[in-house]
Amino acid sequence: MAKALDGVRILDFTHVQSGPTCTQLLAWLGADVIKVERPGEGDATRQQLRDIPGVDSLYFTMLNHNKRSVTINTKKKGGMAVLDRLIKTCDVLVENFAPGALDRMGITWEHIHAVNPRMIVASVKGFGPGPYEDCKVYENVAQCAGGSASTTGEVDGMPMVTGAQIGDSGTGLHLALGIVAALYQRASTGRGQKVLAPMQDAVLNLCRVKLRDQQRLERTRTLHEYPQYPDGQFGGAVPRAGNASGGGQPGAILKCKGWETDPNAYIYFITQAAVWPAICKVIGEEGWVDDEAFATPQARLLHLKPVFRRIEQWTMTKDKFEAMDILNKLDIPCGPILSMREIANEPSLRATGTVVEVDHPTRGKYLTVGNPIKLSDSPTEVTRSPLLGEHTEAVLAELGFSAGDVAALRAEGAI
Ligand code: COA
Repeated sequence: MAKALDGVRILDFTHVQSGPTCTQLLAWLGADVIKVERPGEGDATRQQLRDIPGVDSLYFTMLNHNKRSVTINTKKKGGMAVLDRLIKTCDVLVENFAPGALDRMGITWEHIHAVNPRMIVASVKGFGPGPYEDCKVYENVAQCAGGSASTTGEVDGMPMVTGAQIGDSGTGLHLALGIVAALYQRASTGRGQKVLAPMQDAVLNLCRVKLRDQQRLERTRTLHEYPQYPDGQFGGAVPRAGNASGGGQPGAILKCKGWETDPNAYIYFITQAAVWPAICKVIGEEGWVDDEAFATPQARLLHLKPVFRRIEQWTMTKDKFEAMDILNKLDIPCGPILSMREIANEPSLRATGTVVEVDHPTRGKYLTVGNPIKLSDSPTEVTRSPLLGEHTEAVLAELGFSAGDVAALRAEGAI
C-alpha cells in the first residue's frame, strides 16, 4: 500500500536521539531516509549502553528503524562531492549537530540553497537565538531550561527530570511536524525553507500549562488544585506539585493491593466532578454527595487530602486491574501505573503495532516501540535499523557514481 510520504527523500544528518526520532517518524510515514554517518564510527549511540559486545545498541536500533545508512566523511573532498549529490536529489536535510558544526563543514544554508533551492533544512538545536544559542544540549538540560524540572517533583523535594524524553523525542516530534508543513508549503511556493525546533522551546510548549499557572499565581497568589493549598505556602513561582493533576479535575496516585512489595501497585485516580456521586457510592461514602463540605468541586478543593486518603482506603482493597474494572464501568477516569515489563507484554499494544518485535542480523529479536501515529491509508511496517554503511554502495550507484568512483572514494577515506 502507498505511504503518506512516498517519494520524499530525506538526507538524515542526525545523531543521538532528538534528530533520529524525527527522521524515524518520517521513515514510518513512507519517506526514503538516508542516514549519513562518519566512516568507521557512525552515530555515537551505536556504541553507547551496549548490552551485547560488538552489536549495535538498543539505543541506536530503537531510534533508526526503516532507514538506510551511508558512510561519508564530510571532511574529505570526495565526501563533500557525494554530499552535494545528495543535497541535489533530496527534499529535506535534517540535522542536530552542535551549533555551527554544519557551517564549519561548509554546508551553509546559502550553499544548500544554491545547490537545491527546493531543499528544506531542518535543525534541532538546544536553544533558539539568544544568550545560550551556542550551547550543546542534551535531554536533561532541555528539561531543566524548558520549565519541566522546576515544576516536577515532590512538593518539598528538589527539581526533578522525567523519564519521558520530552527534550529529545519531544523536540523530534515538533521538528517532524515543521518538516511536513514546509513540504506542504513548498508545493505552492516551489521553495525550500529553514525549519528550527529548539529543545528549550519544545519542552516549554509541552509545559504550557505551567506558564498558565504562573500567571494565575501572580494574579491570585494561590493555586487551589495544588497540594500546597489550603495549608501550605506559595512563593513567587509555580511550585512542584507531586502527582497532583495538571488540569481542573483533581487527581492523585493511590496505593492498591500489594503496594508493600510491588513498586507499581498504584492507580491514578481522578475525582472528575461529573462522576462524584458514583465515586462516593463505590467507596461507601454516599453521605458526601449532599454534605456541603464535599458536594461541590470548589468545596472539595479544601479537603482533597482527606478525600484521597478515603478513596485510597478503598483502592488498597483491590489490585490495580480490579480497581480499573470497577471504576471504568462507572465512568470514573483512572489508570493503572504500568511497569515497562507489563507494557512489553501487553497484548493490545502488540496488536496495534505500538510494541513490535524486530529481527536484527547481529542482535537477533528485540522489542521496540513502533509508530504511535496511525494513518488508515498509510500503515507502518517497522523494519530493522541499518548496519553502519550498509547502503553506501547502493545509494552511491543511485546517485550515478560508478564502481571506479566508489573505489576512488574509498581510497581517499571519503566513504
Ligand atoms: N564526517 C565528518 N565529520 C563529521 C561527520 C561526518 N560524517 N559527522 C559529524 N562530524 C563532525 C562534525 O563536523 C563536528 O566536527 P567539528 O566540531 O570539528 O565541527 C563533530 O563531528 C562533532 O559534532 P557535534 O554535533 O559537535 O557532536 P558532539 O558529540 O560533540 O555533541 C550534541 C553532541 C548532541 C551535544 C550536539 O550535537 C548538540 O548540541 N546538538 C544539538 C542539540 C541536540 O540535538 N541535542 C540532543 C541530542 S539527543
